[in-house]
Amino acid sequence: MAWLRACGRDEIDDGEAARIETDPPVAVFNVDGEFYATADTCTHDESSLADGYVDGDRVECPWHFAKFCIRTGAVLSLPATAGLTTYPVKVAGDDIMVDMPD
Ligand code: FES
Repeated sequence: MAWLRACGRDEIDDGEAARIETDPPVAVFNVDGEFYATADTCTHDESSLADGYVDGDRVECPWHFAKFCIRTGAVLSLPATAGLTTYPVKVAGDDIMVDMPD
């Protein structure tokens, strides 16, 4: 695992998300000022969850509307049946850091 700078803290407003072009891509979410990182690709198909609709600690996929828990990655509704990988996040000064697999 390695800590990578994902983006600046001020680049993601509360209730929004950003896609980080890592391999695999990661979505970083701001939930009430707390930052979380999950796999960006929906487990149902190939949609980017950073483009989804964030409601509290849930994100709804923009393609077929599966819902996931941003905090845990758990799948909350069909058509997705598998949860999302989550990644540790820390804030270092003005930077959001994500612990990515090597
Ligand atoms: S791609 Fe996300 S629900 Fe289908």
